Amino acid sequence: METAIEVQGLSKAFKGRTVVDRLDFTVARGEVFALLGPNGAGKTTIINILTTLTSADNGSAHVAGWDVRARSSEVQRRISLTGQSAAVDDALTATENVVMFARLAGLGRAAAKRRAADLIAQFDLTDAAGRVVRTFSGGMRRRLDLALSFVVTPQVLFLDEPTTGLDTRSRRDLWDIIREFARTGTTVFLTTQYLEEADQLADRIAVLHDGRIAALGTPAELKSRVGGDTVELHDGRGDLVREIPTDGSVADLRRALDLLDEEGADGVITLRRPTLDDVFLAVTSSAATPSMKELA
Ligand SMILES: Nc1ncnc2c1ncn2[C@@H]1O[C@H](COP(=O)(O)OP(=O)(O)O)[C@@H](O)[C@H]1O
Ligand SMILES: [Mg+2]
Repeated sequence: METAIEVQGLSKAFKGRTVVDRLDFTVARGEVFALLGPNGAGKTTIINILTTLTSADNGSAHVAGWDVRARSSEVQRRISLTGQSAAVDDALTATENVVMFARLAGLGRAAAKRRAADLIAQFDLTDAAGRVVRTFSGGMRRRLDLALSFVVTPQVLFLDEPTTGLDTRSRRDLWDIIREFARTGTTVFLTTQYLEEADQLADRIAVLHDGRIAALGTPAELKSRVGGDTVELHDGRGDLVREIPTDGSVADLRRALDLLDEEGADGVITLRRPTLDDVFLAVTSSAATPSMKELA
């Protein structure tokens, strides 16, 4: 297995408060790896260390084979990162921004124009291609920022909460674009607050809790610990009156509904998908089940 990212004993504190606590993990080349955690968990700090924007206090990290501290320019040449809106020039149009970025990345004039047209279409900005970015909404700006990180095909693509601020359709489009990149061999390291997003995209998920990895495994492994959907029954006032955990299968949903029938339950039924809270509850409370770290 070729390793794209290797992290050993990585730690970082801000003002004496530990944010990243002796992390160890490796990401294989071509893998899509998701770091799942709530706000403040340390996701951006880890991305910043891996992309050479911040230095760690202790431990080491290698990206694309190079030490992020000692050989930062070698790393920078092989990665791309979202969230660099600073790179966007407000006075230029969307197309001009992408072309400029592509030229800086070494593409010829014609190739840069072609790439820009493709990305503008992929990120649903065609209607706004000729408008100066100053007039863009937050969501459009976000999509342009994302488009820039796909200008070149890097060895490792870092996406820090890529779908935050996007509507459902843009989110699904972006998932497709990320999958396409992964298919062509690019390693993808992404952070998210959404279990569903990690589940949709990742080969493996690391759950970040208190600066440590609380669980690490495939989505199937993680979900088997979290459990499936929950059938909820709400009364006329909308209050939750009954919850039945299921594994999400048709047969099990039928069992849950039969159970409600037997109980003579009345009300409105909804299906709740597992949330990040459920993940944390599962990985931090179930000492009885084998640790997913053992599966890593
Ligand atoms: N430059 C900084 N100075 C002080 N505290 C910081 C700095 N950057 C991040 N933090 C703190 O570190 C913690 C983790 O932040 P961050 O990595 O941004 O989390 P996430 O991206 O998961 O939301 C937060 O409590 C945040 O306030
Ligand atoms: Mg963050």
